[in-house]
Amino acid sequence: MTGKPILCVDDDPYVRSCIKRLLNVAGYTCDCAGDAHEARRLLAVHDYAVVLCDIGLPGESGLVLLSELAALPATATVMVTGNDDPYTADRALALGAHGYLTKPFVPNDLLIAVAGAVHRSRIEESRSAQLESAYATIAASEEELRRAYAETVARLGRAMEFHDLATGEHVERVAESARVIAVELGLTTVVAERLRLAGPLHDIGKIAIGEAILRKPGELSPDERGAMERHTDVGHELLAGSGNELLELAATVAWTHHESWDGSGYPRGLAGDEIPLAGRIVTVADVCDALTSDRPYRSAWTPEDAFAYVIEQRGRKFDPAVVDAFARSLVRHEEAVAV
Ligand SMILES: [Fe+2]
Ligand SMILES: [Fe+2]
Repeated sequence: MTGKPILCVDDDPYVRSCIKRLLNVAGYTCDCAGDAHEARRLLAVHDYAVVLCDIGLPGESGLVLLSELAALPATATVMVTGNDDPYTADRALALGAHGYLTKPFVPNDLLIAVAGAVHRSRIEESRSAQLESAYATIAASEEELRRAYAETVARLGRAMEFHDLATGEHVERVAESARVIAVELGLTTVVAERLRLAGPLHDIGKIAIGEAILRKPGELSPDERGAMERHTDVGHELLAGSGNELLELAATVAWTHHESWDGSGYPRGLAGDEIPLAGRIVTVADVCDALTSDRPYRSAWTPEDAFAYVIEQRGRKFDPAVVDAFARSLVRHEEAVAV
């Protein structure tokens, strides 16, 4: 008989050699351990189908080893013990033992118990293989969903380009620098990546703004400015309420990316921590990118001038912690480029 080996754990060398001989004759491979410590060492390096485990081991009870073996569902444990107390047998079975064999036993009792345990081990093994492939399928479809979402968002962002020429690449750059700032702030990569995915929709509300205003060269009139500022509310209305985590984050960002740390922003005049962190991060990324791009009403600033403006607005327009993270991310980027 081939297959995975069997481990016999018993402090009595005579019992160990009897069991090993019986199993070898029946075609099984068998390793032996005289105590729980030795058993753990062998279990760490070999994959056993069955563990035959004595209860009265030196130093500690075999029941302790049995409870540890619960972590290996494809290894079936049979307690082999001189203790024929039904209470102990019940405890062992409750702890996950597959069988309970009392000493002394006749050879066939052992072989039948081992055959049953090997069978159980094979069933568990195929079950865990099935579970693993089910998990892999779920992970693949989650990844597919995530990709579909990212793709949809990217296309929505690109659709905006037809309407507002400045928007297309701008939203992508803003989303990426928001991700970098989030990482610099110590947020997890998962959260930062979520911000990168939600970021491109921050100006989606501009879809409701007339081209005459969006593309107007020169200053906007107060009425036009009011209409322009509505893109935050419109974006929020468009994106909120789906229950989808990413879309809700995108809705929050759309709503709050023109709020200012000192309360002078729009649409609600929120201040400080009232502004969701995602909004505070995207504000910095958005302003910096907008300043360094040509707009119908002005030409692009140099990166140095834009950076100086961001620093000047630290604690006024922008959250100081976000500005600091932004500055650190620039230094890091320059160091990387210099290398
Ligand atoms: Fe905006
Ligand atoms: Fe923007």
